[in-house]
Amino acid sequence: MPLAATGTLVGAAADRRGAVAAFNVITLEHVEAVVAGAEAVGAPVVLQISENAVRYRYGRLLPLARAAAAVAEGAGVDVALHLDHVQSDDLLRQAADAGFSSVMYDAARLPYDENLAATRAAADWGHANGLWVEAELGEVGGKDGRGPLDAHAPGARTDPGEARAYVSDAGVDALAVAVGSSHAMTTRTAALDHDLLKRLADGLDVPLVLHGSSGVPDAELTAAVRGGIAKVNVGTALNIAMTAAIREFLAAHPDAVDSRKYLTVGREAMTRTVSELITVLQG
Ligand code: G3H
Ligand code: ZN
Repeated sequence: MPLAATGTLVGAAADRRGAVAAFNVITLEHVEAVVAGAEAVGAPVVLQISENAVRYRYGRLLPLARAAAAVAEGAGVDVALHLDHVQSDDLLRQAADAGFSSVMYDAARLPYDENLAATRAAADWGHANGLWVEAELGEVGGKDGRGPLDAHAPGARTDPGEARAYVSDAGVDALAVAVGSSHAMTTRTAALDHDLLKRLADGLDVPLVLHGSSGVPDAELTAAVRGGIAKVNVGTALNIAMTAAIREFLAAHPDAVDSRKYLTVGREAMTRTVSELITVLQG
């Protein structure tokens, strides 16, 4: 199948008041697991490569992007490629030629005016180059090893009035909102602010995106989708599943040296996680 477009998948999900799952991939095993997990439940899926993952791959986007595109094109379900949490304009400009249909431009760390100006420029460039552009207002905490933001810290929650002006002035296609989730949580204990989510969903006419979804319990995820989230970003949950499975395998097989043996159990664990999370989002 040819690559799907993120905007099409998210738009279709939003139309049926559902959500598409978007998983962050680091290795080829992540890519294969995401596609296998989505195929197992017959659902479309988004493969996301973050700027951090590119940095891990010696700063090179194409090796993983091309592998992801090849796996996606061989999938039995719709799969789209999304470039995630982009701060570098140089990386942004590589997106369209590398198979990505969408990008999340992340200027959330900047003061409002600077976020708006940088995002407006990124959205203009993205649209001129055929990309669907997501941006973030309010800051979903926990990025780059920093701890979660206090709920009352400035920017820790997206302001609905500001969000309306931001979406219209920046011209973005989707908005990542800060409603209580935080990146890189290893426990599923986040409590979302559903009243705020409702006010955001009522006031905005673009799909809303939940980041840091690994830390959000199943019931909260289901409620978030009902409340207007149309794209659910998951990364850490895959790494938790992979690492636990490999750790257990190596503890049981201390003499193992063939990396295929432990990567197989790691990939299978991620596949199960993908299927389970997509099923939760289906409500
Ligand atoms: O953009 C990526 C997601 O927000 C992943 O967050 O690793 O906490 O699931 P997570
Ligand atoms: Zn994120």
